[in-house]
Amino acid sequence: MSELYDAIIVLDYGGQYCHLIGRRIREQGVYSEIVPWEIKAEEIRLISEKMNVKGLILSGGPASVFDAEAPKLDANILNLGLPVLGLCYGHQLLAHIVGGKVRPAERREYGATYVTIDRPVGVLKGLGRKERVWMSHSDAVFSVPEEYEVLAHSENCPVAAFGHREKPVYGLQWHPEVVHTENGVLMLRNFLFEVCGCKANWKVENLVNKIIEEIRFETGGSKAIIALSGGVDSSVTTALAAKAIGNRLTAVFVDHGFMRENEPESVENFFKGMGINLMVIDAKDRFLKKLRGIIDPEMKRKIIGEEFIRVFEEVAEKIGAECLIQGTIYPDRIESGFRRFSDKIKTHHNVAGLPARVKFRKIVEPLRDLYKDEVRRIGEALGLPRELVYRQPFPGPGLAVRITGEVTREKVEVVRKADRIVREEVERSGLKERLWQYFAVLTNTMATGVKGDARAYGYVVAVRIVESSEAMTASFAKIPYEVLESISTRITNEIPEVARVVYDITHKPPATIEWE
Ligand code: XMP
Repeated sequence: MSELYDAIIVLDYGGQYCHLIGRRIREQGVYSEIVPWEIKAEEIRLISEKMNVKGLILSGGPASVFDAEAPKLDANILNLGLPVLGLCYGHQLLAHIVGGKVRPAERREYGATYVTIDRPVGVLKGLGRKERVWMSHSDAVFSVPEEYEVLAHSENCPVAAFGHREKPVYGLQWHPEVVHTENGVLMLRNFLFEVCGCKANWKVENLVNKIIEEIRFETGGSKAIIALSGGVDSSVTTALAAKAIGNRLTAVFVDHGFMRENEPESVENFFKGMGINLMVIDAKDRFLKKLRGIIDPEMKRKIIGEEFIRVFEEVAEKIGAECLIQGTIYPDRIESGFRRFSDKIKTHHNVAGLPARVKFRKIVEPLRDLYKDEVRRIGEALGLPRELVYRQPFPGPGLAVRITGEVTREKVEVVRKADRIVREEVERSGLKERLWQYFAVLTNTMATGVKGDARAYGYVVAVRIVESSEAMTASFAKIPYEVLESISTRITNEIPEVARVVYDITHKPPATIEWE
């Protein structure tokens, strides 16, 4: 970065929403760097040489300040003279460190809660008397020392927010980064612009040069291959890597046979047209054979992840590449359970799907801290075509995780045709822009039907159409019945193996977006 940007350092205490804090800050035009809670004051000083660090946020986390192993804070950090905002666990930790009283709350609070704002100042400036906020905690702060004042309370939390009387130090028991906190953005903006005096002088596009430098540094002069699926993340990574290391890069597109209709051809045409070294590997039989008899979704994901790596290793050996570059983004990692305290939801093929041993000297994941919409903005800044940047996400294991039960050649054909119909009908309806994903799933349920006066017995296809902003949560889309009707009519008419079509009306959570 040539110019220094204003930045906030977020200390990660293991909370589910920690990265969301970083993202919300970036959305306001301020750069954020997420660092482990073990960071020392001296290291923050070093970071300050690269960016204008204007404040610190201590994230939430699952620990209790009373746990023997509880994550702490280097006390010297509080002497750096930087504004500090503690959230949830960060709020309790801050209160505990400065001599306040923290103990288990009489009743735990999870979800939407109302707090009473006693003093609308600092971080709470401009808020009403009652605010709807998102809480998720079992300990609470019961008092703070003299030099601090209580700024808000709730039924179960005598000190739901506090602030130092003179210094810019605040704690909030709730999560302003979560959309369910109605005025969460205002609270974060207050911290950034009123308390820390940040300027909104950063854009996600400013990351382009930083990422290019990182790829250059990480690959260290050696040849690299990039795992290109044709999706947004790997396409943007490919464009960045090509800028970073030019013809030391080979993009490898593995056709595992579970792609959507015409996908392999369009990926090949586009990237060859960009002048990038591209190898297309036909591995259809190999993947299908490995999946024979497998019905467990996690096994499928692991097998596909491993097979991908084996193909990449073979190519790398042939061309003498030492590094593997992947387009992994933040939600892929969190859902694969990479963090110490977070639970594993499913193995995304490019993360935990990696086998324990890989032959690469290094795996480089330059987009690992970003969300899909941020990647899209980088794609636009790089001048990639809109159809590519705004393609709906598609999982690495492809249609194989949209077939419940064993994957067979016949089922892949059925779900591929159904997927094309769902896409065509949704795109024709003009609804595409507001949808995150729209696709078909081939369930392992069979049902009876009647087609042309004769009994039909065939597959049940589920249609999944969701709205989301970053895939961490999603809602099923309430699309018009007429669109669902044309999808259902076409699928049952055009695919003889299908007897029935159902619509999935489950949000995420509790469901995930993909069925497996
Ligand atoms: P879930 O099903 O976990 O999906 O709610 C969240 C988002 O991630 C996509 N997805 C994947 N992307 N490799 C990927 O690159 C994978 O293995 C994978 N599995 C799911 C999914 O389509 C949705 O957008």
